[in-house]
Amino acid sequence: MKLLDGKLASQAIKDDLKTKVEELKKLGNKIPHLAAVLVGNNGASETYVASKVKSCEEIGFKSTLIRLEDTISEAALLEVIHKLNYDNDVDGILVQLPLPKHISEEKVIDLIDAAKDVDGFHPVNIGKMVQGSETFVSATPYGILLLLQHYKIETKGKHAVVIGRSNIVGRPISILLSRNDDPGNCTVTLCHSHTKNLKEICLQADIIIAALGKPEFLKADMVKQDAVIIDVGITRITDASKKSGYAIKGDVDFENVSPKCSYITPVPGGVGPMTIAALLMNTYKANSLNHDL
Ligand code: GUN
Repeated sequence: MKLLDGKLASQAIKDDLKTKVEELKKLGNKIPHLAAVLVGNNGASETYVASKVKSCEEIGFKSTLIRLEDTISEAALLEVIHKLNYDNDVDGILVQLPLPKHISEEKVIDLIDAAKDVDGFHPVNIGKMVQGSETFVSATPYGILLLLQHYKIETKGKHAVVIGRSNIVGRPISILLSRNDDPGNCTVTLCHSHTKNLKEICLQADIIIAALGKPEFLKADMVKQDAVIIDVGITRITDASKKSGYAIKGDVDFENVSPKCSYITPVPGGVGPMTIAALLMNTYKANSLNHDL
């Protein structure tokens, strides 16, 4: 078993981006600028957004964190997005999800300028991704592709089983892995809460992407010998023995599954850091496209 180390792979991407930013500075060109919008104070969202902003700083990107009360009206949040769309200094906009229940995520995402949608959630960018056109691919699925690429994992002709059909991870990664591309060219089965015989389907998988958000759901008896396992889960479980008061669990029973597989992502330190690296790649691309660099 070999670990798919997201910390290592993401550092290589960040180092490369840092060099590119230094080049931009030398040439007197505009450096990438990410604006992150955080509504409310959900603990996990706070941690993710702080990581995104810190990573921008590490590689020399400009970043702006816009913190808003969870009581903000939908109209007021839409106004914030509108201003960011028209701010020429801002290259990438991300609105951390989930949003409070009284705000329509769909309306917010639809309003983000597709050319600044570094999260790849806008319907125009989703459509382009489905067509196989050049676009912003959502950070988590893009990060998974970058990880597979980094470790030179052959995907062509493989059976990939995706568990979970969320708009953010499951559905897009199922489409990306089925595309005529590298990574890609998989035969993909997308499983969800109504799938029958999930265990039998998983046992046929060469690659499993577990993205359902249920801690330690994927057990060893569901995994074929030498399968590649990508664990997207990141759930906080109360744990009094930890300083933070919680432990992070993936969707895979790592202890028992890892001895069976050829490659597996750890949690934390697998897909998480790759999501951030992919977001930074998208922000760099938005800066280049929006300023003809
Ligand atoms: N919430 C969980 N994952 C994501 C993500 O990739 N982007 C945003 N904006 N919110 C999220």
